[in-house]
Amino acid sequence: MIQEMTAREMKPRKFIEEKIAEIRAAVGEGLAINALSGGVDSSTVTLLGHRALGRRLKTVFIENGLMRAGEAKRVAGLFRKLKVPVEIIDARAEFFAALKGITDPEEKREAITQTFYRGVFGRIVKASGARFLLQGTILTDVDETVAGIKRQHNVFAQLGIDPQEAFGYGIIEPLLRLRKDGVRKLAKALGLPEDTYRRIPFPGPALAARVIGEATPERIETVRKATAVVEQHLAGTRAFQYLAILHADRVTGMRGGKRDFGQQIEVRCWDSVDARVAAPTRIPFAALQALAGEIIKKVPGVVSVTYNIAPKPPSTIEAV
Ligand code: XMP
Repeated sequence: MIQEMTAREMKPRKFIEEKIAEIRAAVGEGLAINALSGGVDSSTVTLLGHRALGRRLKTVFIENGLMRAGEAKRVAGLFRKLKVPVEIIDARAEFFAALKGITDPEEKREAITQTFYRGVFGRIVKASGARFLLQGTILTDVDETVAGIKRQHNVFAQLGIDPQEAFGYGIIEPLLRLRKDGVRKLAKALGLPEDTYRRIPFPGPALAARVIGEATPERIETVRKATAVVEQHLAGTRAFQYLAILHADRVTGMRGGKRDFGQQIEVRCWDSVDARVAAPTRIPFAALQALAGEIIKKVPGVVSVTYNIAPKPPSTIEAV
């Protein structure tokens, strides 16, 4: 059992000092790798790791083909300003090959986990001589995995998997006792800019968690376009998280007077504190109509846009 540390209990200065000492003790004189996705958890771990290890930490951004539009460039640019060099690794072909033909949600998550940890990181770790991977797992990730709700891509020890045995390197998780609100407080104290520490959560399996059915490059591109519209339109709601989901079923629509058997996008927008429970945000109908209009205009092939009004539970925040 991991003991939770609430946002209120977490005293940033003390927490940072303790974690720096722990990371140094674990890594010793060696090297560590950390995977930065640009979200608040991995950005926070990146800064903590750099304070602890300096140049002995190699930070990589894995371009898996499943990220939001313009993400690799944005993340590398932000960390350049913070004086943290980030190496971008193009693994798009590898991830899409692993996802080919898979439609089951848990199999999809497992394919992504294996590609990340065994494939891509396995090689980077081996080539660099590092013995540790530093990552931003938080308590909510562990809870849902252990409860068997969703296999979060970054949880191992709590499932009885020893990363050292399975992948050949150890994993250090400095944020394990925190939830999202605690991480945001820590991120602010570490000097991350506001648009990073307030950024809405984004799942490890990335846009593959938002495509029901097979995550092909084309279908990911569709949900990527819809995500950009949703994020732009709903930023003003200040909701906990908002996202677009591409459904597997097509429905009959019409375009230019002809039948168009088109795609369906579901929009979700959540009010929540820490993702454990969540309620759909009460978005004015006119704003939803404007959003639907923009999705139809900007995302080719979409003929249906819906808004999810079920709470979590029984819904979950992501669809897959
Ligand atoms: P769910 O969909 O389980 O999501 O209600 C709860 C929160 O966690 C994020 N999420 C993930 N984060 N790996 C992650 O690192 C994952 O596999 C994953 N799945 C969901 C989700 O975006 C939400 O904020």
